[in-house]
Amino acid sequence: MRIRDLTSEDYDGLVALWEASELPYRPHGRDQRDRIGRELEGDGAVFLAAEEDRVLIGAVLGTHDGRKGWINRLAVLPEHRGRGIGTALVGAVEARLLERGIEIVTCLIEGWNVESMAFFERIGFIAHPEIVYYSKRHSPDT
Ligand SMILES: CC(C)(COP(=O)(O)OP(=O)(O)OC[C@H]1O[C@@H](n2cnc3c(N)ncnc32)[C@H](O)[C@@H]1OP(=O)(O)O)[C@@H](O)C(=O)NCCC(=O)NCCS
Repeated sequence: MRIRDLTSEDYDGLVALWEASELPYRPHGRDQRDRIGRELEGDGAVFLAAEEDRVLIGAVLGTHDGRKGWINRLAVLPEHRGRGIGTALVGAVEARLLERGIEIVTCLIEGWNVESMAFFERIGFIAHPEIVYYSKRHSPDT
């Protein structure tokens, strides 16, 4: 297994990975092919792939806004879970963000995703149930 940068050529593999992981994503909004492609070229993206035998077996869309880093769409193919790949992907995002001076990495987890919560707690993230997430959307697909 090796971790490398995602490229726009990984898009189909990325969608297959999200689907195999039953990870909700926004195919008509921010997860569209061209939007991901544009984001990949920007300074705020640390989009990484875990690859084995030329197959995309895991990925993460790390981002930062200049103040905080964010872990988005972390996924590992079900048959490759429990091998430390999720840990390696998050660790690689953290290291890349630290190089850019970003010292806090965060993620938002939906309330139903207790497995993901267990994973993040296991790797040292701290839950903040006192924080309530607000958003404002210009379309339901966003
Ligand atoms: C969450 C996910 C990325 C974890 O990937 P992974 O490669 O299996 O994780 P790792 O092997 O690095 O596990 C690291 C630690 O977390 C623990 N962990 C992983 N999945 C867990 C689960 N479902 N329940 C409890 N603990 C879990 C592991 O036991 C391991 O601890 P250990 O070192 O004591 O063995 C993977 O389960 C996944 O793709 N889930 C579906 C998509 C998803 O929900 N993504 C998160 C969106 S916020």
